[in-house]
Amino acid sequence: MKKTILAFLMALTICSVSAQQLKSPDGNFVMNFALASGGVPTYKLDYKGKAIVKTSKLGLELKKDDKSLLNDFAVSDSKTATFDETWKPVWGEVKAIRNHYNELAVTLKQNGKDRSMIVRFRLFNDGLGFRYEFPTQKNLTYFVIKEEKTEFAMAGDHTAFWIPGDYDTQEYDFTTSKLSEIESLMKKSVTANLSQTSFSNTGVQTSLMMKSSDGLYINLHEAALINYSTMHLNLDPKTFTFTSWLTPDAKGDKGYLQAPCVSPWRTIIASDDARDIVASKMTYNLNEPCKIEDTSWIHPVKYVGVWWEMITNKSSWAYTDEIPTVELGKTDFTKLKPNGRHGANNANVRKHIDFAAQHGFDGVLVEGWNQGWEDWFGHSKDYVFDFVTPYPDFDVKALNAYAKSKGVKLIMHHETSSSVRNYERHMDKAYKFMNDNGYDAVKSGYVGDILPRGENHYSQWIVNHYQYAIEKAADYKIMVNAHEAVRPTGIARTYPNLIGNESARGTEYQSFGGSKPNHVTLLPFTRLLGGPMDYTPGIFEMDLTKLNPDNNSHVNATIANQLALYVTMYSPLQMAADLPENYNRFLDAFQFIKDVAIDWDDSKYLEAEPGQYLTAARKAKGKQDWFVGSVGGNEARTSKINFDFLDKGKSYVATIYSDGKDAHFKTNPQSYAIRKVLVNSKSKLSQWVAAGGGYAISIVPATSENSKGIKKL
Ligand code: NOJ
Ligand code: CA
Repeated sequence: MKKTILAFLMALTICSVSAQQLKSPDGNFVMNFALASGGVPTYKLDYKGKAIVKTSKLGLELKKDDKSLLNDFAVSDSKTATFDETWKPVWGEVKAIRNHYNELAVTLKQNGKDRSMIVRFRLFNDGLGFRYEFPTQKNLTYFVIKEEKTEFAMAGDHTAFWIPGDYDTQEYDFTTSKLSEIESLMKKSVTANLSQTSFSNTGVQTSLMMKSSDGLYINLHEAALINYSTMHLNLDPKTFTFTSWLTPDAKGDKGYLQAPCVSPWRTIIASDDARDIVASKMTYNLNEPCKIEDTSWIHPVKYVGVWWEMITNKSSWAYTDEIPTVELGKTDFTKLKPNGRHGANNANVRKHIDFAAQHGFDGVLVEGWNQGWEDWFGHSKDYVFDFVTPYPDFDVKALNAYAKSKGVKLIMHHETSSSVRNYERHMDKAYKFMNDNGYDAVKSGYVGDILPRGENHYSQWIVNHYQYAIEKAADYKIMVNAHEAVRPTGIARTYPNLIGNESARGTEYQSFGGSKPNHVTLLPFTRLLGGPMDYTPGIFEMDLTKLNPDNNSHVNATIANQLALYVTMYSPLQMAADLPENYNRFLDAFQFIKDVAIDWDDSKYLEAEPGQYLTAARKAKGKQDWFVGSVGGNEARTSKINFDFLDKGKSYVATIYSDGKDAHFKTNPQSYAIRKVLVNSKSKLSQWVAAGGGYAISIVPATSENSKGIKKL
């Protein structure tokens, strides 16, 4: 991310009183820090005079430590500062991001133990971030966290949009309920399906979105999760107080630290306008500036892939259904019977390259190209993939040359099978192989139990692995899109080669039984706050038996909803996930996917309500074109927007892709209508949206050519 335009850092006061107040630059937020009796550090947060977080304790419990970092503290120093800079992201929703906050850093000294800890608070106009810092000191060098004990005491029985606590997956539909209902709902329905049973019945994951009965929108999450384990939140259902709950390692420990070091930021984003939550850049702002000097090789990618046919089980990742008897790399595949369903074959990949080139896509993702899939399913072996050995029907050199000749790049796929040390052992060779063969982006994946055994997907050790993979990829000028990795926490500001993550329930679940229609109205309030998602939208054929007679799953969305996702689900990496033959049936609707930009100068959120709807307008990078996307939830509704984001006095041609009058995500998902109208900054639109539906608009400046015969809205 490019150079700071304006940086202003000023130490204002130095004092050491045990109660301190901090205000946000606009004065709307007030944070109070105080030492409670027994020297327990606490904070509380108000917004426009209302409590967001009531007095809540801070601290950490250490392993084998009689006192821990919980009490007996005195304030030995405190400093305030103001910071205001504007930075330019390499890719993003807007061309410049303002990072403006007031800061309070309180140094706490622990009586008797002679050790200290700093709590640093940053209060922005969109909320609060705070973290623990452990300076170099004699009596606290190496330490093991038993549990972090940060509290977030909610001021009421808010409505929460939650997914259950889980150390291994975030791929859940959201449940909407009162905080007081979480425990019983989880006991009833969710715990049975958790990927491990040790988690509490009141634990939820972040980013957690809530709404209070008096209309406050509150989000709890974390920023800059580096060398630390992932935070979940455990709820006391009687007091509505969340306490941090870190992901354990194989031994049950929650973090091995060495001073000097810091925790990730704990974040509370809040507003009385839901649009402010989705527009917040606080999570990015709490991360370090870009550490990659030359970012010229990092670019947004719109792609198609040999993928949906595998996810729907129309074709297979593996070349053969036979299990080889010798180790990887030594198998003679000419002796094994092909299963006849292998997706990553030369002819199919060429077909996709042709389709990508014909319609202006940058890339083609090909999964199942490398040996090991035949050996992996049903096993939990350390050594399955080497990431460099293709199947006999996938000619790496010829296919990359063919793609190059058509102006397209193949996208690499590394399914690690969660055998993390195996991946690390092969990483240099695998990335070099990509350099040698013309790949500049990799989709990685972590399906299955983590090896070494007993580790979880979100503990400190593997958080460090995901980070290692990103940084090493940057050395090879490779962009990363990691699936099943830990949910992002704004790290792409520092390492913008992390152009995507899955780390939530993506479109693949539409093929595994379906997702709730309102899922896509919640992801921008939760998962997307930390970074873009490789959601893989663009499904046009919702009846999956048409692809595979044995797949009875139904895609719970309309075609217009699928188009809108390219705008509402911001990502510099966007896939058109359906098969070319399905796009060929609806080329007029497909036109929107071809036209839509994936990098932006500006973004405006026009309507937003978690679980119900989201409407965004974005201006294409370096252009005058705008794109609007609106997604609805489980019920039909009418969206009302105006176009005051457009330049005044100018006329534009808007192409509106909407749900047909009788559209419905279940009964009539392929009903859509396309119309062209002239709009200007005074125009207003009232647009019906089907259940599970949406609309998308592309807006280009009007010319005498393109506006002929088109009526005003
Ligand atoms: C799960 C990923 O989310 C999916 O996109 C991928 O195709 C499979 N793993 C196989 O790696
Ligand atoms: Ca997945």
